[in-house]
Amino acid sequence: MGPVTLFVTKPVSAYGNAMEKPYLLCIGHRGAMGHAPENTLRSIRKALELGAPCMEVDVYYVDGRLVVFHDDRLERTTDGSGYLCDKTFGYLRSLDAGEGEKIPLLEEVCEVIGSQACLNIELKGPDTAKPVAALLSKLFADGMAKERFLVSSFYHLELVEMRRLVPEIKLGALIRGMPVDGSKFAEDLAAFSVHPSIDCVDKRFVDDAHERGLRVYVYAVDHPEDLAKMQTLGVDGVFTGYPERVIKKYAQGDAKNGWK
Ligand code: G3P
Ligand code: MG
Repeated sequence: MGPVTLFVTKPVSAYGNAMEKPYLLCIGHRGAMGHAPENTLRSIRKALELGAPCMEVDVYYVDGRLVVFHDDRLERTTDGSGYLCDKTFGYLRSLDAGEGEKIPLLEEVCEVIGSQACLNIELKGPDTAKPVAALLSKLFADGMAKERFLVSSFYHLELVEMRRLVPEIKLGALIRGMPVDGSKFAEDLAAFSVHPSIDCVDKRFVDDAHERGLRVYVYAVDHPEDLAKMQTLGVDGVFTGYPERVIKKYAQGDAKNGWK
């Protein structure tokens, strides 16, 4: 009798064949904000240490610099006060952003990550697309892999501007509510992905997005029961402050090599 060949059927995801674990992409939220002060280099390093293949940071353009920060005011996460955008870069750098960390620049975050993970840059506020596009163009010219970057925003006009300035960049369309026509807005933006809130996502939304060829990345999903719920809904990935919870239960494939 000749050799016997066994054919094993495995589910195929965007990242190739999943092994035993089901697939759910882990995107470290503001680095690994469940473990370290959000949007700091410590948080980025923690996400890398925990093995997050992707991570997200929030970016404002202030005093001619791209600073990594979430709120429009300083009080919640620093020892400063007032509106972020009213301040000089010198003042912002003098603040404690938690555990002695400084507010980082986007270029510092990119340097720490290097080729260890993918980065989602969320544009906060107006006029961020242009300086982010300039930085990305410089990084790409220096040999940084384009497929490791995804630019998202709730400000969809900023995404239109980003598409104009860096046509090859992948875009993620953020949304807080649930539109009557599903993810049409994201398809119209020629986005790669749509990013709904966990409060406003259901099977209908996920299926509609997939029919439009969009990935679905949901924010913010920290509880194991919610992770399971998202995986059952068929979402492609989650933003989480606890990367280890996702990685422990869900396959990541070669996700760190590019959004795909
Ligand atoms: O990009 C996903 C998520 O970060 C969007 O909401 O408010 O946490 O920036 P927010
Ligand atoms: Mg964000």
